[in-house]
This record gives sequence, C-alpha cells and structure tokens, in this order.
Amino acid sequence: MKESRQGWEIAITPGMCYGQKKRKTSPTVSDFNGIDRENLPRHIAVIMDGNGRWAKKHALGRIAGHRKGAEAVRTTVRTCREIGIQYLTLYAFSVENWMRPAREVSALMDLLIDYLQSEARELRERGIRLQTIGNTAALREPVQRFLRETMEETKEGRDMVLILALSYGGRDEILQAARALAAKCSAGLLPPEGISKEVFEEHLQTAGVPDPDLLIRTSGEFRISNFLLWQMAYTEFFFTDVLWPDFDRAELLRAIAAYRQRERRFGLTSEQL
Ligand code: FPP
Repeated sequence: MKESRQGWEIAITPGMCYGQKKRKTSPTVSDFNGIDRENLPRHIAVIMDGNGRWAKKHALGRIAGHRKGAEAVRTTVRTCREIGIQYLTLYAFSVENWMRPAREVSALMDLLIDYLQSEARELRERGIRLQTIGNTAALREPVQRFLRETMEETKEGRDMVLILALSYGGRDEILQAARALAAKCSAGLLPPEGISKEVFEEHLQTAGVPDPDLLIRTSGEFRISNFLLWQMAYTEFFFTDVLWPDFDRAELLRAIAAYRQRERRFGLTSEQL
C-alpha cells in the first residue's frame, strides 16, 4: 500500500478497487455529520474474521481472541447506530463452525449470552431491534432463551436493525426456501411460474430486509464463506487486513468512505445512471 503526503492518491489496497482515490487520514464520525447521508450504505454485513490469529499474535488462547472480538462487536454496533446505518448483519456463527472443538463452540455461545445480557438494555435505549437468521433451533436452550428475550425487549426499536447470523449457512437458507416453494407448488398453492425473484426472496430468512450494500471482511481473507449468497449479488466488498478484534471505529469509517466512492451500476453503464 502506497502512502502519500498529499492526502489523495490512486492506489490499490485490499479494501479498495483499482483506480479508487484513497485518503491518507482516517475519516472521523464528524465527517459523516450532515453530509450526503443518502450515500451511506443502508445495510452493512460483516464477516468477523481473525479472532484466532489475533490471539496467537498476542500469545493468548483462541477464546481470548473471541472475547476481544466481542468488544469489537460492541464498538461496531454503536458506531453504526451513531452514523445512521439502518441494518447491520454480523456473521457470528456459521453452520460450519459447529465442527470446531466443543470447548470453543461452548465459549462462543457463552460470549453470545454475555453480550445479550450486557447489551440488551443499551440496544433498547438506542432503538436497535435485534433479529437473527440461521438455524437458531440448533443452539442450546439458554442461548435461544436469551435471544428470544432480547428480541422481545428490543422489538420496538425503529432506528437500526441488528441481525445476528447464528448457525447460518447461505446454501442452507436457499435450500430451505426452495423446499418451502416446492411444497407450495406440489400442494397446488403456487404454480412454478409464480416463483419470481420477489416470491423467492419472501421465503428467505432475510425477507423484508434490503440486500447488503456493503460487505466488510476482516483479516485479509477474500471469500464470502457461505454468507448471504443470494443477497450479495450486487453488494460492494471491502476487504481489510485488520484482524476482527482490532477492527475499530476508524476502520469502519474507512470501509464506509471506500463504499461512498464506488459507482454502483447494477449492470448498467455509467451514462445510464
Ligand atoms: C472468526 O474468527 C470468528 C468467529 C468464528 C466467531 C465470531 C465471534 C465473535 C466476534 C465474538 C462473539 C460474537 C458476538 C455477536 C458477541 P476465527 O476464529 O475464524 O479466526 P482465525 O481465522 O484467525 O482462526
């Protein structure tokens, strides 16, 4: 990554597109006050990766990395709410994560309960509504109970929706929608030609939620790892080398600033926009 004393330059970094202008200094929250809020992403999705590597780097166990990662979750939720992001989806536990050592899975579930216990009140006070996607029925009962209670407690939230993807897999979600539609077709409730894009989307777990405008993935990995496969058809991607536990307000603002410089064409030409 090239640095310049002039402030703006053309550069390629993991978080950017070729030819995109790069600003040297980090944007601050005040940069987003009163300016061009229409150009903010409405929905940000995040693959929070690198907790294990962060722990290793600090000569700690993996669970300490997840614990620090939970702090980054708190910061990210607060900052998104402050800026005016309407939807934030966090990939907290994938369907594949069940295959991790039992002790790590259990620690992740405990951290989730801790988060819900410590944040429920703040979520409610800040108008943040909690939702989940994924096969939450597979989570152990206390986790399900805390999720139910927090969703109930925050259900009036109108300012932001926080969606936790838990035991989530994009392919599973698509299969589940396909099965539900097949059942309706075979029961004669829906003709196959009635399965439009809109009807299909109504059968996804994200029904009613706009597609993510921006995906952030931390830790220098360039994959979508079975996350929101249908929904990310036109999402802008921001990849950063920062490990999730180090992901802070400044890095989030950098991701948003990069997004704001993208031209979203949705298959059209620049002239048509
Ligand atoms: C990926 O890092 C992270 C996860 C699988 C879990 C994410 C969980 C948290 C951020 C903490 C708890 C969440 C909430 C919502 C309170 P990794 O373990 O795959 O890292 P590595 O690739 O460096 O090993």
